[in-house]
Amino acid sequence: MNRDTPRTPPKTFHVKSFGCQMNVYDGERMTEMLGARGMTAAQDGISADMVVLNTCHIREKAVDKVYSDIGRMRREDGTRPLIAVAGCVAQAEGAEISRRASSVDIVVGPQAYHRLPDLIDKAIRGEQALDTDMPAASKFGALPGRGKQTRPTAFLTVQEGCDKFCTYCVVPYTRGAEISRPWSAVIDEAKALIDGGVREITLLGQNVNAWTGEDDKGAMQGFDGLIRALDALPGLDRIRYTTSHPNDMTDGLIAAHADVESLMPFLHLPVQSGSDRVLKAMNRSHSAQSYLRLLDRIRAVRPDIALSGDFIVGFPGESDAEFEETLSLVRQVGYAQAYSFKYSPRPGTPAADMDGQIAEAVMVDRLARLQDAINADQLAFNAAGIGKRTTILLERKGRHPGQLVGKSPWLQSVHVVAGESQIGDMIEVDIVSAGPNSLAGEIVRRKAA
Ligand code: SAH
Ligand code: SF4
Ligand code: F3S
Repeated sequence: MNRDTPRTPPKTFHVKSFGCQMNVYDGERMTEMLGARGMTAAQDGISADMVVLNTCHIREKAVDKVYSDIGRMRREDGTRPLIAVAGCVAQAEGAEISRRASSVDIVVGPQAYHRLPDLIDKAIRGEQALDTDMPAASKFGALPGRGKQTRPTAFLTVQEGCDKFCTYCVVPYTRGAEISRPWSAVIDEAKALIDGGVREITLLGQNVNAWTGEDDKGAMQGFDGLIRALDALPGLDRIRYTTSHPNDMTDGLIAAHADVESLMPFLHLPVQSGSDRVLKAMNRSHSAQSYLRLLDRIRAVRPDIALSGDFIVGFPGESDAEFEETLSLVRQVGYAQAYSFKYSPRPGTPAADMDGQIAEAVMVDRLARLQDAINADQLAFNAAGIGKRTTILLERKGRHPGQLVGKSPWLQSVHVVAGESQIGDMIEVDIVSAGPNSLAGEIVRRKAA
């Protein structure tokens, strides 16, 4: 326990989330829970009595960022907030964190954050405050219900953890085994979000399409069944989901893309590499061909679907020719957007010990070439929207005064001139211009009847 740990109960707090959307969701749940306990959310970490760093362990850079953030917590007068490290670094490194950064007061894993209030009490009493349990009883049941939301869009975690053990990835170790939240818990949370003003829900999971469970009549359902039940809820206009795994893209889910109106025509389906040898070494259990055939089947039922993916360049042993296979796959698919990363060896994962680790300079070069190819496709996809009429959900203020940003069905950001009171409205726009990252639209004005 640190000598300089603040000893008065914190009244204000700030949660800073890194990493994936599930961490954003967890950060929101922590904020709601601390709020329900009478604490107030502060605008930033500097002024807050307590800072929660909700961390990501996926690549080395993400971890370094956390430690540099911890180092910057001391205020000019020499004091500092109570510091809690939550999220995947907390799970992966546990007590090691306090050894590396002695000012950390609380360490809490992603399956234990409902116990944060007890950990705060412990820390200010001067006791060790570490909880990286993965309790069988779900944290979700211990969290307060969802209330009024500040945005018309919300995340909803329905599935957590991963049993796939790709050889490069820490997620199965930091998030634990695959679990699906019960049907009624998901439906009830969705209803509460809708009551709180939400019109679009993005269902989250590390392998969200692996969701399975019994419905309210006791029948087994897959992810498509859950989507259909959510589609039937009055007031929910749009459903999205992420991240999905190619091996869990069932016939039922593909069919849902054909006929569930609120299910948006956008699919984030990571493939990681276009080389079968690399995919095998990654333990991805799909091939480049099986992935492309899957996309064909989805496009056959939903021709306008926008595709997104994740790629890793410089996986151990990746040759120039194998990298070219990735470029070739990207050209064949024509992604609407995609994320690409340099391989980062993660402690404890099989790939970190593989022969043939790739030099940084080679990875930098491959990443630049891959991103050029992806950016070109992304711009082409956006440019193809010019002149088309579409519906956007206005989500937030834009950078310029009098401007709002909404999302198209294909997850493109669309800027329009509109007043703040219109946030949450679904409006028709004509797309007038396009850049690599966003579109501009003009609101369609209907003549009074
Ligand atoms: N569950 C999802 C993605 C989880 S992590 C899936 O299986 O697709 C998000 C992305 O980070 C991965 O898709 C992968 O592209 C990337 N990633 C994971 N581990 C990585 C590593 N060690 N180095 C570089 N990128 C990595
Ligand atoms: Fe990681 Fe693979 Fe699981 Fe995705 S499927 S979370 S990349 S182990
Ligand atoms: Fe990062 Fe954990 Fe998400 S490692 S990507 S925050 S599941």
